[in-house]
Amino acid sequence: MSKPFVSILMGSESDLSIMQAAGDIFTQLQIGYEIKITSAHRTPAITQQFISDAESRGCEVFIAGAGLAAHLAGATAAHTTKPVIGVPIDSGPLNGFDALLSTVQMPAGIPVATVAIGKTGAKNAAYLAAQILSLGDAELAQRVKAERAANSDKVQSQDKALQDSLN
Ligand code: RP5
Repeated sequence: MSKPFVSILMGSESDLSIMQAAGDIFTQLQIGYEIKITSAHRTPAITQQFISDAESRGCEVFIAGAGLAAHLAGATAAHTTKPVIGVPIDSGPLNGFDALLSTVQMPAGIPVATVAIGKTGAKNAAYLAAQILSLGDAELAQRVKAERAANSDKVQSQDKALQDSLN
């Protein structure tokens, strides 16, 4: 694993299709990452051990996605002082509102930077992690800026196509 890298954690295999969106962005931005299924509730000891090992191996940012009574991001933040980004997953009958509240409502002193519910949140978790890592990496900062510029070009060309279709 290249250093520094990001650890992506999720509570269940059922979260993988959402959380892989973060990994795809890391591939695009040439950021090393690892991805692991581990649960705050079902495998608490393994989760704790994984977090402390990841930190020793050079992990600089953690991303944790979980649904229902989502404690994975909070449990991760309890075991590290590296930045933790939480992704609430819309896996239950409340469509992620439960996970949003569980993830965002952390007690003072143990922060979790909580992003949007679902795949948009997973993508923004990756962009936010990239921005954190780019504080110490000028080349990565340029790649993040280039990605923003590409998004801007895309919106402008969508609008141009719309305007052309109206004229
Ligand atoms: C959470 O429970 C997981 O993060 C997942 O979103 C949800 C449901 O898990 P499964 O029952 O699908 O394994 O811990």
